[in-house]
Amino acid sequence: MVTLKDKQFKPYISSDKILEAVKEVAKKINSDLAGESPVFLAVLNGSFMFAADLMKEINLPCEISFVKLASYHGTTSSGTITELIGLNQDLTGRTVIIIEDIVDTGNTVEKLAEILNNKKLKSFKIATAFFKPTAYTKNIKVDYVGMEIPNDFVVGYGLDYDGLGRNLKDVFVLA
Ligand code: IMP
Repeated sequence: MVTLKDKQFKPYISSDKILEAVKEVAKKINSDLAGESPVFLAVLNGSFMFAADLMKEINLPCEISFVKLASYHGTTSSGTITELIGLNQDLTGRTVIIIEDIVDTGNTVEKLAEILNNKKLKSFKIATAFFKPTAYTKNIKVDYVGMEIPNDFVVGYGLDYDGLGRNLKDVFVLA
């Protein structure tokens, strides 16, 4: 058991199993994108651990940037504006692979797809360590999934509860 603040979490997925799944994802990317030189965009904070393990298994000539989605209220409009920060390269004509820690409702990947849609990419793919298919509400294809999990709250391997637990190498579920 692991205690993070006021909650207890029990062991759920071992680091060995996660790494096996990450290697499978890398294998698929290496074969699907053979001959290409993709740009990986790792979405912080949660994806740092998956991004590191995944990149070690990628054998394509590739680049990686670390980005963050930031939401703010515009001064003239009442709506919330979402922007991608940390992206300082031109993606025109590039194959882009988003690296996510977990896809839950899909709101985050939908926003990323909207933002990247305007950038004249060659193609756009999504890789996630974990995917909750029963929580997913969008139509965007999640191309590469490490592991599908039920709609439970998990921590570890980059995922947090209130900022805590990202350092755990195994994944734990709310007890
Ligand atoms: P979505 O936009 O609903 O798909 O949620 C994606 C984001 O919510 C992830 O990048 C995580 O930061 C967070 N999230 C979703 N499910 C979990 C979970 O089980 N544990 C920790 N964070 C989660």
